[in-house]
Amino acid sequence: MSTQPETMIGVIGGSGVYQIDGLQDAEWVGIDTPWGAPSDKILTGTLDGVAMAFLPRHGRGHVHSPSTVPYRANIDALKRLGVTDLFSVSACGSFREDKAPGDFVIVDQFIDRTFARDKSFFGTGCVAHVSVAHPTCARLGDLAFEAAQAQGVTVHKGGTYLAMEGPQFSSVAESKMYRAWGCDVIGMTNMPEAKLAREAEICYASIAMITDFDSWHPDHGAVEITDIIATLGANSANAKGTVARLPQALGRTRAPCPCGCDRALEFALMTAPDT
Ligand code: ADE
Repeated sequence: MSTQPETMIGVIGGSGVYQIDGLQDAEWVGIDTPWGAPSDKILTGTLDGVAMAFLPRHGRGHVHSPSTVPYRANIDALKRLGVTDLFSVSACGSFREDKAPGDFVIVDQFIDRTFARDKSFFGTGCVAHVSVAHPTCARLGDLAFEAAQAQGVTVHKGGTYLAMEGPQFSSVAESKMYRAWGCDVIGMTNMPEAKLAREAEICYASIAMITDFDSWHPDHGAVEITDIIATLGANSANAKGTVARLPQALGRTRAPCPCGCDRALEFALMTAPDT
């Protein structure tokens, strides 16, 4: 019997991605956590022999706004199921002319401007400070990039994601400021998701699907949710096709993360073990 650790791929789907096609032995399972219930039940099964777990970030029926998504419960529930590698799929606006609606960006940096969310599993009783200098997993990011390319998507490797609280979109002044800060895309959901995945020692990559030019672009009007939904509709096949390529790319047997995401707590705990 093999003692090698096995991969379990988690996918948190945002607007436009509400399931995984072709999953074998598919079953929706309810998981409870000390942080409350996750956004929804989690769809488990296997694809190409690799275990998968899919969670709709906003819940089926889109019932959670970006501020009310139970981020801690979501990451905890996926960890309890055994998820080792987590891909976030979400919609975003673009600050760059060369990153257009329909393109994907494999995000590798964040500026976190969210303020109304619980951002850590650690606090009173157990204190830990993990590094998020490199908040995404380079190995997973590379695999996501190659999968999107193979799917025929125009995909950009690397990009800085401004995480805003929402639910309103940005003013023109804010949009221009984020552009001046060097941000590439903007969204409302990848934080604190990425930070919590790191605390849970789960590798995390973000596949951000561009739906609009936010509000800075002189040739484009204000962001409209109807435009976002139309772009997502046109792109959901690409997103699902990209996700479907991930199990083969990652493989069933899990090698330790070369970036150390799966050992993030090794030197992060401050509280003495016997307190
Ligand atoms: N999601 C999609 N487009 C967005 C935008 N322009 N700002 C914030 N979140 C988004």
